[in-house]
Amino acid sequence: MRLNLKIWRQNGPTAAGRMEDYVADHVSPDMSFLEMLDVVNEGLVKGGKDAIAFDSDCREGICGMCSLVVNGIPHGPDRGTTVCQLHMRKFKDGDTITVEPWRAKAFPVIKDLVVDRSAFDRIIAAGGYVSINCGGAPDGNAIPIAKEISDLAMDSAACIGCGACVAACKNASAHLFMSAKISHLALLPQGEVERSTRVVNMIEQADAEGFGSCSNEGECEAVCPKEIPISNIARMTREYVRALWFERGE
Ligand code: SF4
Ligand code: FES
Repeated sequence: MRLNLKIWRQNGPTAAGRMEDYVADHVSPDMSFLEMLDVVNEGLVKGGKDAIAFDSDCREGICGMCSLVVNGIPHGPDRGTTVCQLHMRKFKDGDTITVEPWRAKAFPVIKDLVVDRSAFDRIIAAGGYVSINCGGAPDGNAIPIAKEISDLAMDSAACIGCGACVAACKNASAHLFMSAKISHLALLPQGEVERSTRVVNMIEQADAEGFGSCSNEGECEAVCPKEIPISNIARMTREYVRALWFERGE
């Protein structure tokens, strides 16, 4: 296939960005989207030009590093798929494809398609953990947990922290990300001890980072590569109200 690419180039956080045109030739339908960009970069480097900067690591849909808006959709047109797992068979010879970085105030562009997502790390550091000493691994049946609850907790734990939910939201809200982490821990007995401080501290940190609030658009759920449901946001809101009213007396 021969594809026309319109790719966002930006030299640094304070530089002005612009869309630039590239042609990707001899693209195999079996290539991943990132492999196609690797081939474009090889050509640029051979021609003495600056390679297009983009993030990736595992290329297996696990790490959450890849972060491209393809044709206006975070992670591209395949539902439940990271952009590293998106394959070129989704496109046709002669297609024009736009490629942009996540766009949100809390995710400033570092270079080209790479954004700084350390705001997510600071939200996790504010409360997305269990700090009690759990000791050694207990027997699997020592703390009985209903299957329905453990399934919900595991589904929430599938969040890879990619930030597509923020990129898709008109409010640049981090609610789906936070609610996945909060649900994962709030549903399990190990997360009970810090349940109240966790939700309050994480929401306050997200506000401080400049993420917006949730207005139930559902765009986050639609683009989430791990198909985290927005019912988690309702659980997070319940956790927040409970923490403020019953634990803090506010
Ligand atoms: S909730 Fe989904 S879209 Fe948001 S960070 Fe987690 S995996 Fe990515
Ligand atoms: S590169 Fe790891 S999830 Fe895409």
